[in-house]
Amino acid sequence: MYLTKEEERMLKGEEGYAVKKSMEILVALGDIYGAEKLIKVGSVQVAGVSYHNLGDAGLEFLNELAKDGKVRVLTTLNPAGMDLKDWKKLGIDEEFARKQNLVIDAFKKMSIIISCTCTPYLIGNLPIYGEHIAWSESSAVTFANSVIGAKTNREGGPSALAAAFVGKTPYYGLHLDENRAPDTCVHVAAKLKKISDWGALGYCIGKKAENKIPYVTGIEDANLDELKSFCASVVTYGSKPLFYMRGITPGSEKHQPPRETITIENEDIEEAYQSINDDFCTVDLVCIGCPHCSIKEIAEIAKLLKNKNISSNTEFWVACSRLVKQIADERGYTEAIERAGGKFACDTCMAVAPLRGKFRSVATTSAKGCYYSRHNDMMTKMGSLEECIEAAVKGKWS
Ligand code: F3S
Repeated sequence: MYLTKEEERMLKGEEGYAVKKSMEILVALGDIYGAEKLIKVGSVQVAGVSYHNLGDAGLEFLNELAKDGKVRVLTTLNPAGMDLKDWKKLGIDEEFARKQNLVIDAFKKMSIIISCTCTPYLIGNLPIYGEHIAWSESSAVTFANSVIGAKTNREGGPSALAAAFVGKTPYYGLHLDENRAPDTCVHVAAKLKKISDWGALGYCIGKKAENKIPYVTGIEDANLDELKSFCASVVTYGSKPLFYMRGITPGSEKHQPPRETITIENEDIEEAYQSINDDFCTVDLVCIGCPHCSIKEIAEIAKLLKNKNISSNTEFWVACSRLVKQIADERGYTEAIERAGGKFACDTCMAVAPLRGKFRSVATTSAKGCYYSRHNDMMTKMGSLEECIEAAVKGKWS
């Protein structure tokens, strides 16, 4: 890979340890994928924040980099393993909290914004169309590539950090226009009625598109919450972190739908629910906010919980960024949700918090949430917001 004089100096260590290590990572990646050069990135989103996933080895790696590493571009973080303020309320133990805080301290030293969210585009890390970025979390990467039209590969935690310290990333993969053309057409004949249907659709397309870039037709309109749910699901269950949706996502007008066509019918959506939903009744946890809730979703939750109480057998969590929670505080939504017995899980989520063994079953609106909950040995139910709230109030799925 071609390096400028400045990049060669960085690689030799003339700008310190963190930059040298980062250049080593970027050059190795560039060589593996045949990148011709490095390109500047406008922002970075770093995954690998939860101590649950990092462990002591990860913490040590971050502390080494934090000795002299400072990010050069706007950099935000993916969810951590706990609510950074109210971790006790979520049943996190002291030792985990201590280690998680050490991870956060390392990121602070690097001048990273301690945002801890998979929806960075809702809190000010919002790229523009065509901008090169280096983001990590799969739903955010898919949203950035598809809904915004920015360009990013799905970075791992170390390669995203390396891009943040150098301000650049290797020019390969989805940074190149020739790799961004759709490979398969997916016609959606099914009717989508509720938020979880978008997760079910993502499941169907992810499975059927099999690592291809889908060009989706047949959808007449979609709002931000539906698209973020679809982004999370389609990439989790199989396809590349990029899709086109005719008339909805930018760039769809530039491409013709590929000849190969898959059709998604109502029966496919029903089969997705059957596959995602386990057979159980008592719900231990209801979690809304995968990807992290928008303020509109939180307003809806507050409205649906009016004059209701969460069952004493069930926990009800709203996962969101701290910034969105601040708006919820000001609007009175937090008080309404907490009055009903709900809890906010800021800065964290159902996939990266240490939940294994704490709950046997979960209900959620999110197909991706179900996928990761099964990894945590939980039985799963996916449904509309109304169905999830009913389950939280009754303590069971009906
Ligand atoms: Fe976000 Fe966690 Fe879901 S990172 S997309 S809330 S699994």
